[in-house]
Amino acid sequence: MKIMKIEGDRKLTGTIRVSGAKNASVAIIPAAILTDEEVTICNVPEITDTDALCDILSDLNVETSRASGSLIINPKNMENVEIKEDHSKKLRASYYFMGALLGKYKKCSMFFPGGCSIGARPIDLHLKGFEALGAVVSKNKNKYTVEAKELKGANIYLDIASVGATINIMLAAVRAKGKTIIDNAAKEPEIVNVATFLNNMGAKITGAGTSRIKIEGVDYLHKCFHEVIPDRIEAGSYRRMGALCGERLKVDKLIPEHLDSLLSKLEEIGIDLEIGQDYVIVSKNDHIKPTTIKTATYPGFPTDLQQPFTVLLTQADGKSKVVETIWENRFMHISYLNKLGSDITVKNQTATIEGKTALKGTEVVATDLRAGAAMVAAGLVAKGETTITNVEHILRGYENIIEKLTDVGAKIALIEV
Ligand code: EPU
Repeated sequence: MKIMKIEGDRKLTGTIRVSGAKNASVAIIPAAILTDEEVTICNVPEITDTDALCDILSDLNVETSRASGSLIINPKNMENVEIKEDHSKKLRASYYFMGALLGKYKKCSMFFPGGCSIGARPIDLHLKGFEALGAVVSKNKNKYTVEAKELKGANIYLDIASVGATINIMLAAVRAKGKTIIDNAAKEPEIVNVATFLNNMGAKITGAGTSRIKIEGVDYLHKCFHEVIPDRIEAGSYRRMGALCGERLKVDKLIPEHLDSLLSKLEEIGIDLEIGQDYVIVSKNDHIKPTTIKTATYPGFPTDLQQPFTVLLTQADGKSKVVETIWENRFMHISYLNKLGSDITVKNQTATIEGKTALKGTEVVATDLRAGAAMVAAGLVAKGETTITNVEHILRGYENIIEKLTDVGAKIALIEV
């Protein structure tokens, strides 16, 4: 087991370089099997979620290697065998193999995916999309089998603009016969990046980034080179840490427009920002104004940044509110923030934060990935030592977090116990 220890109340200054987006990479890696040729994907973060997907590729006899920041995937000798249950359960994104295998072989058999316990996380919209394309879905205990004689383009309306369903349906539809239209599609930048990757392999997808995506099926996809976009959630997490204890902390190699909602909120509460073409410089403000945030699908305020933002609001002068609308169980970090000294109550998916409260280091738990980022942020601002357990969650999504924070002045260590 690993734990993190943070000696808080130190200034963060210098530059943090943002890694490639986890939530784009975890879809692009499974999507790579849609061709039989070698693809090179650059800027794939080295995190345990991408390692877990490479383990699944290995189950499928797909070769992978890493070279100068790129992941090379060669599915030449691939076999459509069952993915080990342990491997499917390791992360949510294992379910992208459903769409990709269905698209390529018209058949897949998969165990339930895993992932953070932030809500019920049904996959009914993914399965309805596969069915609309002509597949038959059956469920036996904890395993799904999805198969089709032929996949045919269809008009699919998503009841919820789901990121996962939009991507999974794209993966199944790229090699279907005819045209597929996904309406009420999710618009997140990661979806645009996955569509660009598929187009680089020869797919014909238009409209990604809008609520209507059109896919003209093709028979064949080929090798390509692709670059993963910067991780807007990682960038947002470090900006929040900068707002808490930064002194001109530069968060570099990002796309500022991907986080307009966060930048507006940071400006609204009085955080001093310098926004460049591919960087943001953040400094702490001792007099933060309280505010209300409400999570929403893109371009709204991202749910994945809600938990770290709560930490910032513990330092605002007055009462703030955080309303979570995407996941029903994304307030697990609150009890640990209160243990550190905050004054937060949760009722009906709304957290009310009474600021400003001094935080004092103690033992806390990373209950999920972004709750873990919130605990790191809290540990950095708290006086004394904070110990975080269950850090495996954090390592799933933040590449080199210890090195990145140490380089800008944090006292943080990962310890094997
Ligand atoms: N939903 C359904 N049925 C479905 C699919 C989704 O009811 O078939 C509901 C969900 O229960 C949820 C809402 O729709 O209430 C949105 O879910 P979505 O499918 O958009 O989420 P996801 O694809 O499972 C991705 C990210 C999450 C991020 C959400 C929302 C990945 C691997 N995960 O999840 O990221 O919170 O979109 O933006 O891309 C994280 O990185 O920490 C994380 C949890």
